[in-house]
Amino acid sequence: MILENTHILEISDTADTKDDRENLAFAAEMIRRGGTVCFPTETVYGLGANALDPAASASIFEAKGRPQDNPLIIHLDSPDKIEQYCETEGNAYLPKIRPFMPGPITAVLKKRACIPDVVTANLESVGVRIPSHPVAHAFLELCGVPVAAPSANLSGRPSPTCARHVIDDLYGKVDVILAAGESNVGLESTIVSLVTDPPTLLRPGGITYEMLCGALGEVAVSSAVLSEMKPGDTAVAPGMKYKHYAPRTPVFLVVGEDEKVLAFLKEKQAEGHCAILCFSEDVPSLGKELVADIGAKEDAALHAHRIFSALRDTDEIPELQSVYVHITEDKSGLNLAVFNRLLKASAYHILNV
Ligand code: TXA
Ligand code: MG
Repeated sequence: MILENTHILEISDTADTKDDRENLAFAAEMIRRGGTVCFPTETVYGLGANALDPAASASIFEAKGRPQDNPLIIHLDSPDKIEQYCETEGNAYLPKIRPFMPGPITAVLKKRACIPDVVTANLESVGVRIPSHPVAHAFLELCGVPVAAPSANLSGRPSPTCARHVIDDLYGKVDVILAAGESNVGLESTIVSLVTDPPTLLRPGGITYEMLCGALGEVAVSSAVLSEMKPGDTAVAPGMKYKHYAPRTPVFLVVGEDEKVLAFLKEKQAEGHCAILCFSEDVPSLGKELVADIGAKEDAALHAHRIFSALRDTDEIPELQSVYVHITEDKSGLNLAVFNRLLKASAYHILNV
C-alpha cells in the first residue's frame, strides 16, 4: 500500500508546546480512524495502529513487510490498564515488575478476547509495554485505545533510533510520523514472559537480567537470546527466528585481547572495503576513516544508544564488503542486550582472534 501522503509532524521531546498538542491530537485521531502512526519511545521508534482494530493492525504488517506469524506488542499509557487487556488475576510476577513500568520492558501475559488474533499471531498471550517517553505517553493517553506497535523499520533492518531512520524506511507507507529526537536507550525493550514458571527472559534490553532477577528471583533465559535457532525449533519469542538488524553488508564480530583485535582490524583496513565499529580506546590506532566510535569499552549504555545507528550508516558506504565490530567478552548488564542484537546482525559470525 502506498499512501499519497505521509504527514511528518515535528514534535519536541517534552511534548508540551501548543503545536505539540495539536500534532499529537491529529496523530491520535489518525489512530482512532484506523490509520498508522510512527512515534518515538525511549527504546526505539514504533509503528503504531489501533490494537483493537484488526484491519488497522494488519496494515502494520503490510507497511513493514513483516511476516504475519510474528506477533505485535501492545502499548498503553498506564500499567493500571493492563488488566483490561490481559488476564492478570493470580499472576504473582506482574506486581514484582511493576516498579519498572513505565520503562523499557514488555511483559508477556495471557491475553483477553478483546485483543484480535491478528495482533498476537493467534497466540494466547500478548506482550504489553508502557513507554516512559513523554511523547509516547502523551500520544497513547490521547489515543485512548491500546496501540499495537513493532519497531518502525522495514522488516529485517536495524531498528530506528531517530526520525530520519523512520522516514528512510517508511515514508509513503504510513499516515503520520511524529518526528522527535533520538531514542535514549537505543535498543528495543526487554521482553519477559510472565506466563512461564519461573518467568523467562525472551529478549534482553534496558531492564537487565540482573534487575529482573532482583525483582523476580529466578529467571530462565530463552535459548534464543544467545544461540541460533535450529530448523524445527519453536521460537518462544516468535520474532527471534527471523533475520534481524542486518545492514546490507555482512557483519563480523571480533573478540579477543585488545592488542590482537587491533592488529586484526588494522590488517582488514589495509585490505580495504571494510567499515569498523569499535570502542573509543581503539580510535587512536585505527583513525577515523570508515571507523565508527560506539563509546568507551566499559560504557555499555552508550554502545546500546549508538549501535543501530552505526549499523544503518554502513548502508550509505559504497563498495563495502564487510563490517567488523569490536565486542567485549563481558555479558553483564546492558552488554547482554548489545551482544544479542549484534549476534543477530552478524548472523552469528564471531571471529575469535
Ligand atoms: O522497545 C520495543 O519493544 C519496541 C517499541 C516500539 O516499543 N517494539 C518492538 O516491537 O521492538 P517488535 O515487534 O519489533 O519486537 C517485539 C518482539 C518480537 O520479536 C515478537 O516476536 C515478540 O516481541 N513477541 C510479541 N508478542 C509475543 C508473545 N505473545 N510472546 C512472545 N513473544 C512475543
Ligand atoms: Mg523489531
